[in-house]
Amino acid sequence: MLKMIRNSFLILQKPLRLFLRILAWPSSTMAKHENIYQLKDQTCIELGLIGPQDKQRYLNGFKRLSPRTNINRFHTFKTGFTEKELDYLLNIDNVHHLAIGAIDCKNRNIGVGLARYICQQENPDQAEVAITVIDEYQGRGLGKLLYQQLINKAQQNGVNKLRNVIKKDNRAMLHILEQLGAIQISENDQVYELELQLKRPADFSHSEASSESSQKTSVRNKMTNMAVTAI
Ligand SMILES: CC(C)(COP(=O)(O)OP(=O)(O)OC[C@H]1O[C@@H](n2cnc3c(N)ncnc32)[C@H](O)[C@@H]1OP(=O)(O)O)[C@@H](O)C(=O)NCCC(=O)NCCS
Repeated sequence: MLKMIRNSFLILQKPLRLFLRILAWPSSTMAKHENIYQLKDQTCIELGLIGPQDKQRYLNGFKRLSPRTNINRFHTFKTGFTEKELDYLLNIDNVHHLAIGAIDCKNRNIGVGLARYICQQENPDQAEVAITVIDEYQGRGLGKLLYQQLINKAQQNGVNKLRNVIKKDNRAMLHILEQLGAIQISENDQVYELELQLKRPADFSHSEASSESSQKTSVRNKMTNMAVTAI
């Protein structure tokens, strides 16, 4: 009898230990893992909302931008930032002005990508978008991931339209916006202005979803045509 009790205790010991270990898992570690993603080439990336504490990471990433990436992002060659500009870009409420930063899990000192929206003062439910991935991380899916996460945050915060001003030769960004279903609303000789209409998750009923999907098809076709002429 004693032997039987001892044996069943031994059998239960392992799952019990595992259960206790799960209970003792620090919540900060759990939260951190929710923000970890793998890019196409298996690179491990951590995403998070940025703040003043990320200044050095932001500058380290900025230093690594090629002239082409720098110009595509800022529409002029930007050589650096004043303290006032840094304060504007980093000291943000992450609701009306929100930025998601990306770091490589193996090197937390460099910001490797950033997606930002800033709500318009006159129309707070509409926002301007800017997105950057440093050159050595481009082409691995990070730009799309950041844009998708930005959309999620924008929807949660009541933003319903994202406005993008993109240089006409910026094929990668036009490609991403085309895939997301953005439409061109204006252009000049240098840039296209594209808008992405967002849906509030709660508003998304079944009937709306089907009419939305047929609408999207036509929008997509429109964009495909635009992108083809753009390229
Ligand atoms: C635009 C940018 C954010 C994209 O980031 P990224 O990490 O390289 O993007 P992804 O890897 O997620 O996706 C790029 C997509 O564009 C496509 N692409 C890349 N170069 C392309 C080109 N020359 N022509 C057409 N498509 C191209 C890729 O094939 C990929 O699409 P796919 O997944 O369907 O194959 C990045 O290039 C960048 O930082 N550019 C400079 C800043 C900028 O232009 N910002 C936008 C204005 S604010």
